Amino acid sequence: MRMNMWTKVLPLVMAGAAAMGAATTANAPTTLKDAYKGDFVVGAAMDAGQIAGTDQRGDAIIQAQFNSISPENVLKWVVVHPQAGKYDFDLSDKYVAFGMEHHMFIHAHTLIWHNQVPAWVFRDDKGNSLSRDALLARMREHIQTVVGRYKGKIQSWDVVNEALNEDGSIRQSPWEKMIGEDYIEKAFEYAHQADPQAELYYNDYNLENEAKRKGAIALIKKLKDEGVPVNGVGLQGHYNLTWPSTQQVDDTIEAFAALGMKVAITELDIDVLPAGGKQPTADVTVHIKENPALNPYVNGLPDAVQQELAKRYGDLFGVFLKDRDAVERVTFWGVTDADSWKNDFPVTGRTNYPLLFDRSGQPKPAFEAVLKAATGPAPGK
Ligand code: G3I
Repeated sequence: MRMNMWTKVLPLVMAGAAAMGAATTANAPTTLKDAYKGDFVVGAAMDAGQIAGTDQRGDAIIQAQFNSISPENVLKWVVVHPQAGKYDFDLSDKYVAFGMEHHMFIHAHTLIWHNQVPAWVFRDDKGNSLSRDALLARMREHIQTVVGRYKGKIQSWDVVNEALNEDGSIRQSPWEKMIGEDYIEKAFEYAHQADPQAELYYNDYNLENEAKRKGAIALIKKLKDEGVPVNGVGLQGHYNLTWPSTQQVDDTIEAFAALGMKVAITELDIDVLPAGGKQPTADVTVHIKENPALNPYVNGLPDAVQQELAKRYGDLFGVFLKDRDAVERVTFWGVTDADSWKNDFPVTGRTNYPLLFDRSGQPKPAFEAVLKAATGPAPGK
């Protein structure tokens, strides 16, 4: 059941007042998961060190602050199924065990993507391209093995990741070229067969841009018309200080909610560094040449930018809170700034500051802004 701000805050106010002999008015939540309890779960993507237990500082932050987890890499095809007939569930088993031990919402990323999928997947043992039927059979075997292993434990899956071009057309990935556009519906069908209770998501970046959003809306409508078991849309949320506008985010969430989709913000981070001339993208094949002018904050983030980042995070969580009936989950793509892929993308070796915890694991002003947004006035409430 979802609660409004007062049904959420009142018990905390009363509990706080009772605990302190009614000497104070409110004990504001000090964790992300408590601040948004009843609105949506708040998650972090775990890297291999956090999953293996070698990053104990990261694990402590995850346990204290988050009630949902995503695997940054360990459930991608290349990790879990590196060779034909050979699965490696070492890290993914540990990932799921971590979530179960700490009673978290366990999400998984991702079944079908064009990156981090080994070349052998598309070839037979003589090195020839597979036929449509043979590739579908391989896709089905993979999905049923991986989803089936965690049936009843992993609650939601990114079934298909990044199937769209920026203009909204279907990306000509190896999956599309060798199977046809219906690879998308087949992937959802196979996942649903493997775990009928799991929530199944389509996940992508830049859906806040109109052309790509229109393509995604058309895709979801088509899947729904065909009776394909799709439950939600993941907005990756790789944002910067100015793009997308909060209006774009709001419009995008509402557009998918209007189609009956659950919405998750799946990979949230905010890039504070110069873009280097490219429009925002999360296409991992993009590389921009290193240049000191693109790496201005090696010795620390200036306070003005720190405050700008905090305000930006507060504004975005204001939108997520306003749209809490549609938003199921908000997940950060990493825990501390030191972990983030944004230190190496789209320029390698930069010092970026995209998350809520700094390089020593301390909460940043952006963390406080996100907590504050949970109890502050949300636009449109
Ligand atoms: O595991 C190997 C390790 O054995 C090797 O020593 C090391 C040397 O470079 O590489 C390690 O693999 C790296 C892997 O991350 C784990 O750290 C890969 O090179 C590197 O390419 C990979 O990057 C990941 C990227 O996806 C790859 O596509 C990032 O961590 C991950 O954050 C990023 O996540 C994607 C989402 O899946 C989809 N949306 C965009 C998002 C950001 O690109």
